[in-house]
Order: sequence, then structure tokens, then C-alpha cells
Amino acid sequence: MSRPVISPVSRGAAGRAAVAPKKQSADQAREAWGEAFRRVRAETEERAAHLSAEDQIVQSMADASPTKWHRGHVTWFFEQFLLMPNDPSYKIFDERFSFLFNSYYVAAGPRHARPQRGLITRPNGGDVTSYRAHVDAAVERLIANVPAADAERVFSILEIGLHHEQQHQELLITDILHAFAQNPTDPVYERGWKPPRATQGPRGFVEVPAGIHAIGHDGEGFCFDNETPWHDELIPNVRIARHLVSNAEWLEFIAAGGYSTPSLWLSDGWAAVQAEGWQAPGYWRQNDAWHVMTLAGLKPVDPAEPVLHVSYYEAEAFARFAGKHLPSEAEWEVAARASAIADAFGIAWQWTRSAYLPYPGYHAAEGALGEYNGKFMVSQMVLRGSSLATPAGHERMSYRNFFYPPARWQFSGLRLAEFV
Ligand SMILES: [Fe+2]
Repeated sequence: MSRPVISPVSRGAAGRAAVAPKKQSADQAREAWGEAFRRVRAETEERAAHLSAEDQIVQSMADASPTKWHRGHVTWFFEQFLLMPNDPSYKIFDERFSFLFNSYYVAAGPRHARPQRGLITRPNGGDVTSYRAHVDAAVERLIANVPAADAERVFSILEIGLHHEQQHQELLITDILHAFAQNPTDPVYERGWKPPRATQGPRGFVEVPAGIHAIGHDGEGFCFDNETPWHDELIPNVRIARHLVSNAEWLEFIAAGGYSTPSLWLSDGWAAVQAEGWQAPGYWRQNDAWHVMTLAGLKPVDPAEPVLHVSYYEAEAFARFAGKHLPSEAEWEVAARASAIADAFGIAWQWTRSAYLPYPGYHAAEGALGEYNGKFMVSQMVLRGSSLATPAGHERMSYRNFFYPPARWQFSGLRLAEFV
């Protein structure tokens, strides 16, 4: 299990405030948090630096946000939840920004409509850069000066803000790729970008020991509240694919008429196939051969690589086509904790057959930050692992990502399961 590299403190009981280890002095904690803050903020700017001012304002669909908005929103998060409640001397950069950069926090006040974020040309990119600098300086001052009695609580909010910004770093990439995929000139995000190599070797299935297994966050390091509590799950006799489903396998699905065979599809899935005209994964185009839009522009589909940009509906139809199933999130986690599966992290978020629901005994955090995860626990499906766009150190065994079943602009793939 890899621990989040941005967290310089350990957490006690899952879901409670971060607690600095006794061996870490107050000065060391301030220094470590300052470093973590600067590193995460710099990563956002590094990802945005590949993009022009024009690139950064475009919004290609309601689910995707402009880069400029991501840069402003993560900054607002620190201003709203860290600085305003904890620094009486903090001066708000611009009173209008809360309306523009609040995403979905009802408790934090009214907000601009999400589908219209791409209409905002002012503040311009330079204004957002100034906003970031203003908040950066204020957060650095808070880290240096927060009274010792408040430090643990304040640093726990800072920690959430850092993990939140990392989530948006991934969205920045997936959202601009969606925008570039609408552009007939096939823009390149990063020349020379290469997809991570999938693990090679014998394919096949690995057995997950049947019985009661504990899953969820084990209390070590940071987690979001939706990963708690650590709890027991009953695992049936199941085997999970060692590898992710590949493009070669997906080409077989296409060749066999997978996208034109209604009996393979959930009713809602078949409706989506009809309405959207799906004939292949997202960003695939058939010229002389199949190509796919990537961060390095349009590239031939590599049969050896895992399939990406498939919806839950497609993943479920493929599993049915293969005579298999998708694993549940508990089955996935038990297999991953046992290091039994390849490429659990770093290539594709993997759809599970688990609906995104609260774990037994889950309680959302108190206050506005309680809106972070809990209010979305309906109508979405859980994805596990992490993707090629996930920032280093952000992944966790217990991490629960979630999207609506038709979504496919994320780097989403699948692995299969079978019951024995
Ligand atoms: Fe956010």
C-alpha cells in the first residue's frame, strides 16, 4: 500500500482530524506542511503550463470545467474553508470570486451555473494567477503563525485542501483532453507523452479467498470520509482478472457486434448507445485503422494497452459479452491489498459493479465540508484504483472514485471477475 506522499502527519482514527506524530516538533510540522503545500500548488501550475490562455477558458461539455476555473476553484477552497475561518486578518482577494469559483457547496453560498463556466472570460488567466499568489502567501503565513493549540485542526483542513487540489489536477487533464478531442486539428497536450506501460505476462484470474474481509480506510494516513468506516464485507467464491481488459479484447467486442447487440446491454446502456451513437470507446476514431485521441494527440490504438474511456454501461456489456462480471469494490480491494492483481493503480480507474453508497455506519463530516462526498451517494457507480492522470501519491487501497454510468471522459477501464 502506498501512502500519500503529501501528508507529513499521520491520522488517528479514520475520519478524525490529523494528528502530528509526537516525534515531529511543531516547527517540523509547519515546515512539512509548507513544503507539501508548495509542491501541490506547483503541480497544478505545471499541468496548466502546457496550455495557452485560449485553451484554459474552453468548456467542452457541462461535466468538464475550464482549466482556468480549476485553478481558481482550488484556490477558493483554501480561501473559503481554511483562511476565512482561521485567519481573522485575511483580506478576501475579490468578493465576486466566491460566486464564480464555488462548485457545489450550498452552505458556502450561491454559485455560478456549472455548464456556463466556459463563458467567463473575466477574470482572465492573469487575474487567476494573482488570486493564486494572494492565497498562497496567506496560507504560508497561516502555516507559520497558527497558534499551536489550533495547529492540528488547521492542518487537517489544509490537508483536505491539498487532496482536493490533486483531484482537480486529474480533472484538469481529463477535461482538456475532452476539449481537444472536439478539435479537428487534434491538439497535443504534451508532445512526447507516452501512456504508462501495462504489466505484461500471463493473463488469467486469481482467486480471492472467500469469507469475511475487512475493507475501507484502516486509520493510517489521510482519507476522505467516504472511505470510512473500516468494516467487514462477505466475499463469495470469486476470481478476479490479473490484468485490465485490453484494446485487443475490445476490438474483438466491436468486431463481434457488441455495440449493435441489445441483449448485451442494460436498458439504460442500450438507450445511451442509441442516443450517443457509440460504436467504440470514447475518443476512438476509425480512419484506415482505429485511432484514439491521447495527451500526445491522435495515435493508433495499441492492442496491447488497456482500454480507456469506457462508460459503466460499456464495461458491463463487455463483461456480459465475455461471460464474466465486474468485481465488486470489496472484491477489488481485497485482491489489491493481497497484491494479487496487476496495474491496480496508475493506468485506468476500474469500474466495479458496486453502487456508490455509504459504508455501514458512515457519517459525513460536519459543516460545509460534509458536502464533499456524502451528498453524492445515489445513482453513481464506484471506480477503484487510479489513472494515468492521478497525481503521484494520491492513490490509496481504500480510495472510492465515483461517476455516473454514462461517463467516459475519465481514464476509465475495467477488469473482469468470475464466480466459481
Ligand atoms: Fe472541487
